[in-house]
Amino acid sequence: MLTLLKLLKDGRFHSGEALGVALGISRSAVWKQLQHLEAELGLTIHKVRGRGYQLRAPLTLLDPAGVAEYSPSSQWPVLVFDSLDSTNAEALRSIERGMAAPFLVLAERQTAGRGRRGRKWVSPFAENLYYSLVLRIDGGMRQLEGLSLVVGLAVMETLRDLGIAGAGLKWPNDVLVGEKKIAGILLELVGDPADVCHVVLGVGINVNMQEADEVDQQWTSMYLEAGRAFDRNLLVARLGGVLQEHLNRHQSSGFAVLQAQWEQGHLWQGRAVSLIAGVNRIDGVVMGIDGQGALRLKVDGVEKVFSGGELSLRLRDDS
Ligand code: BTN
Repeated sequence: MLTLLKLLKDGRFHSGEALGVALGISRSAVWKQLQHLEAELGLTIHKVRGRGYQLRAPLTLLDPAGVAEYSPSSQWPVLVFDSLDSTNAEALRSIERGMAAPFLVLAERQTAGRGRRGRKWVSPFAENLYYSLVLRIDGGMRQLEGLSLVVGLAVMETLRDLGIAGAGLKWPNDVLVGEKKIAGILLELVGDPADVCHVVLGVGINVNMQEADEVDQQWTSMYLEAGRAFDRNLLVARLGGVLQEHLNRHQSSGFAVLQAQWEQGHLWQGRAVSLIAGVNRIDGVVMGIDGQGALRLKVDGVEKVFSGGELSLRLRDDS
């Protein structure tokens, strides 16, 4: 099925006969595979009598060689999958199998993309970026402090570099444009954080997505912000470059060296918010973050510090 897609990805018309010859199958088998492509991957294929079949828009698929072309100095092996349950899940399985970190797992789609706090991450085929970078951490807890904020900062800067000027951060690690989410980050950890462990830095970026009824929060994409499509291989390369640079600084000097840069990108500095922790809610005003990436909130006139993966922020109506 994906061999057929690769023939169609140029966005031009291809006759059923030519496709059948290229694949060594009958025209009716081509027809069946086309129907499969539409049903399985949600692609729209135009069928015009006398001309053949054409994808609604040309597709650029993820390709390790394409990524390498844009980032010749990167040392991270890149694994690309047509379809996965979740790139984070595959990354964890690869660690289990003994694959040596660092390495990067990408997929064209996820059937069970994971979001924070048990949410689903909507992951249609060939539209967005589903990215999991695996690192081996042997420097103890300090190397984990603020790590998810470092990833958020790298994603935000990459988006800004590519022209999404309004991209900003929401603690702990959402990337928004205005109040709409454009990227999310989910870190998963295996091993002993006090000794040797592996961390999966999972990043989802809405790249060329224009419609998605299933997303249950306000969202946008690079396409919707810039009015043009982006090459995801270039995005992988650019993100890798920025991430590598920030991870090096974080590893050698700790999160505190990136604290000011992170706060500059924080869209909710000084805003009145509610911090949600399960069923509990704390109202306060955002002061910023500390040198470990924890949130500083002024609550009833007193500054308090909060950290933890299950926390999330909402703007208050009076903010
Ligand atoms: C969030 O809820 O904001 C976090 C979303 C993280 C989604 C990415 S997509 C790549 C990686 N694989 C997953 O299953 N989740 C992360």
